[in-house]
Amino acid sequence: MKVIDGKALAASLRAEIAKGVEELKTAKSVTPGLAVILVGDNPASVSYVTAKEKACREAGMASREVRLPADTPEADLLALVRELNADPAVHGILVQLPLPKHIGEKNVIDAIAPEKDVDGFTPVNVGRMMIGEECFLPCTPHGIVKLIEFSGMDIAGKHAVVIGRSNIVGKPVAALLSRKETNATVTLCHTGTRDLAHFTRQADIVVVAAGRAGTLTGDMLKPGATVIDVGVNRIEDPSRPRGYRLVGDADFDSCAAVAGAITPVPGGVGPMTITMLLWNTLEAARRSAR
Ligand code: GUN
Repeated sequence: MKVIDGKALAASLRAEIAKGVEELKTAKSVTPGLAVILVGDNPASVSYVTAKEKACREAGMASREVRLPADTPEADLLALVRELNADPAVHGILVQLPLPKHIGEKNVIDAIAPEKDVDGFTPVNVGRMMIGEECFLPCTPHGIVKLIEFSGMDIAGKHAVVIGRSNIVGKPVAALLSRKETNATVTLCHTGTRDLAHFTRQADIVVVAAGRAGTLTGDMLKPGATVIDVGVNRIEDPSRPRGYRLVGDADFDSCAAVAGAITPVPGGVGPMTITMLLWNTLEAARRSAR
């Protein structure tokens, strides 16, 4: 059984990205710039955006951090996005989700210029991905494909079962895995699926992005399967300094006993999400310099 080291893959890709950033600075005098917008103070979101900004600076990029109070009116956020759309020093715009309830997520995503949409969330980028045109691939799904390849598996012809149908992970990862380049057969399961284990037991690859700890257990796996765990769940744990620990959607111990390979939480998918964000930001800056 192999634990797939997302940190190691992320580190080697980030070194490559940092080199690309240096080359762009030297050749075109362009420093890739990422604007990261956080509305409110959801603790998980605060830790994600802090990690994104840090990774950005470490790669030699410029990070513009915008923290707004939770009661920021939607109109103000839309105005900010439009201002960043027009700012030539900003190549990528990221609005951390979820947004407070009074703000229409769709309105905000729609306002991001597709050429700066480094999350790959705008309808234009999603559409381009679906029809195989040049686009920004969504970061977590793209990172997942890279992780499976890095684990040594040839994805072509394999059966991948995806658990979860979110716009951020489930739907796009199912789309990416079934593209001709990867060529997996994909089953998309969700909360309406009857007898989830019936499907997961047939899978060579299980991507679990359900948002609930314990969604996948070892008895639901075919021996030797590859498990990609996208979940990040806080479990109370008084023995930890912060009072909680992070676990994925898969029960690690029982899955590891049956799987051929599995991603840990933390240290699996998370570092890859941020890495692919840097990748897209560098690509956005390169395109703007052409
Ligand atoms: N919330 C959870 N994951 C993501 C992500 O990849 N990007 C953004 N913007 N928000 C998120």
